Amino acid sequence: MTDQYILLRAKEIHKTYSGKAEPVHVLNGVHIDIRKNDIAAIIGASGSGKSTLLHILGGLDRPDKGTIRFRNTELSAMNDEALAHFRNRNIGFVFQFHHLLPEFTALENVFMPGLIAGKPMSEIRDRAEYLLEETGLSDRMDHRPAELSGGEQQRVAVARALMNQPEIIMADEPTGNLDERNTEKLLNLLLDLKSKEQTAIVLITHDHRIAAVTPTVYLLKNGMLESTVIENS
Ligand SMILES: Nc1ncnc2c1ncn2[C@@H]1O[C@H](COP(=O)(O)OP(=O)(O)OP(=O)(O)O)[C@@H](O)[C@H]1O
Ligand SMILES: [Mg+2]
Repeated sequence: MTDQYILLRAKEIHKTYSGKAEPVHVLNGVHIDIRKNDIAAIIGASGSGKSTLLHILGGLDRPDKGTIRFRNTELSAMNDEALAHFRNRNIGFVFQFHHLLPEFTALENVFMPGLIAGKPMSEIRDRAEYLLEETGLSDRMDHRPAELSGGEQQRVAVARALMNQPEIIMADEPTGNLDERNTEKLLNLLLDLKSKEQTAIVLITHDHRIAAVTPTVYLLKNGMLESTVIENS
């Protein structure tokens, strides 16, 4: 596979947490390539470093060593402000717990990344309404997060992640908190929107059912992504 297909390439990523306690060596030379419109699942034991890796891949955190290139942009070369701007434009995040802003409605939560990007309000509103319709929430737009079910909250979080048409979505156990029916619904939604929006997804999951429908599954173990990649398709 030539480089032109690579959307995001992480090389030799190392991360150690060193605070007051014993240092924790979490990542120990991770390599991963994500291609345009790709979907990759990352599985691994609790505490193996999946969230740490996802945050680093998405530019929310920095590695101690290693490089992350998104298209032709090297994330480590950016200062914090430039990186925040870059994330807002190019990367969507969905977290295990929705991280919606409690005082704002579903619609306002979805258009927040558009506001931050400085897009015109009419465009923002149209896009947010479209995404909430796509996620099956057209009759919940004016609800605050506390007035939504767990599954609905996660669907709002997915809509919000897609607001600025990112080329990649980083999802950290987005179904971790949902029952079986809502897990399946959210997964189908992600897959459907992924193909409509041509977005790549990195999906962290404990759920082997999810891992089973994605083309590539990586196992994070001993600080590395195991080379025994399970190819499902
Ligand atoms: N800020 C921090 N300071 C010190 N240690 C940390 C910090 N954040 C995470 N860790 C440790 O690093 C390891 C990896 O954490 P991480 O959250 O990436 O794991 P994970 O694979 O996402 O786990 P889970 O499946 O439970 O979400 C854990 O052992 C954790 O205790
Ligand atoms: Mg985690």
